[in-house]
Amino acid sequence: MSLMIAAPTHIPVLVKETIEALAVQPGGRYIDCTLGAGGHAAAILDKSSPGGQLLGIDADPEAIKVAKSRLEVYGDSALLVNENFADLEAVCIKYDFFPVHGILFDLGLSSLQLNGNGRGFSFQHDAPLDMRFSPSQEVTAADIVNTYSESELAHIIKTYGEEGRSRRIARRIVQQRPIETTLQLARTVQQASRGRRGKIHPATKTFQALRIAVNHELEYLEVALKQAIDLLGFEGRLVVISYHSLEDRIVKQFMRQESSADEARLRLINKRVIKPSEVEVQLNPRSRSAKLRAAERITNQREQYMVAKEYSFPGEIEAGGWRRPGLLKKLQRAYAVL
Ligand SMILES: C[S@@+](CC[C@H](N)C(=O)[O-])C[C@H]1O[C@@H](n2cnc3c(N)ncnc32)[C@H](O)[C@@H]1O
Repeated sequence: MSLMIAAPTHIPVLVKETIEALAVQPGGRYIDCTLGAGGHAAAILDKSSPGGQLLGIDADPEAIKVAKSRLEVYGDSALLVNENFADLEAVCIKYDFFPVHGILFDLGLSSLQLNGNGRGFSFQHDAPLDMRFSPSQEVTAADIVNTYSESELAHIIKTYGEEGRSRRIARRIVQQRPIETTLQLARTVQQASRGRRGKIHPATKTFQALRIAVNHELEYLEVALKQAIDLLGFEGRLVVISYHSLEDRIVKQFMRQESSADEARLRLINKRVIKPSEVEVQLNPRSRSAKLRAAERITNQREQYMVAKEYSFPGEIEAGGWRRPGLLKKLQRAYAVL
């Protein structure tokens, strides 16, 4: 009898909703900032054919390897790069890939990372406490666990894990140091949480907190969203799928602020967040916490004015003629080449 061990796979979340929210069109240009195993990227490339182009970014070289083999069939339409989305603007300049019709962020980590051996993201497998998306990052989870002060650890566990017992957990970690593996850490947190019963394992929030801290997830998200807005062409779409409230809060506030300011640069596509159907959650339990938010790039009056000035028809602008449909078309074309 042969024993087949299935390789870990990643099932993309809210694919149909993502394609709709991105308004993917043939010949369009898209950036997938979190390429992972390439599931969303493949759907974008299918829908943008013929002529579509995709720039896929991932901080994890393993993800790039997996996505490269999956997306090989799309040939030159897919450009896949091992970079961090915190450098989104520089990456797009480097590869001359802007303005674009849509930008996607599918945040967090993939099943390949969670279930992959030796990455240290999960307490389901014993592994060194690493948790870095990229081996080029210097600080691992073990560094944080073994060198940070008790109060720094409590702060991280409370802020990024929204863990009520952060101080007890931090105290226990400091008592038990050195802690080198996932199972050692899970046991330590379990001891600190004795008596607590809940639906999730007591170490879940501490693991989430360390992963966020190791990879600067929240800071990088804020930085990347700001850069994304300037890379979108007129009517380009920004779509973000988040998996916990800390990420979603950042996305919600960012989109709200950018769509309600006097000089708004975004228009919200879905006023209410989009969530997976019951069927999707049943088929892919990892999708249960997913929330999708989408917005469209609009040019505000000042930007229209600047573009028009650049393209030398300021007379009409000054006379308030920029509302004329013909002029708006001209502006769109001018904006597309900026
Ligand atoms: C949820 S997975 C994406 C899955 C993908 N949409 C698919 O269909 O296979 C998130 C991916 O984003 C990557 N990632 C997270 N933060 C990143 C960052 N700051 N820069 C680049 N990639 C990042 C992770 O390495 C992971 O592969």
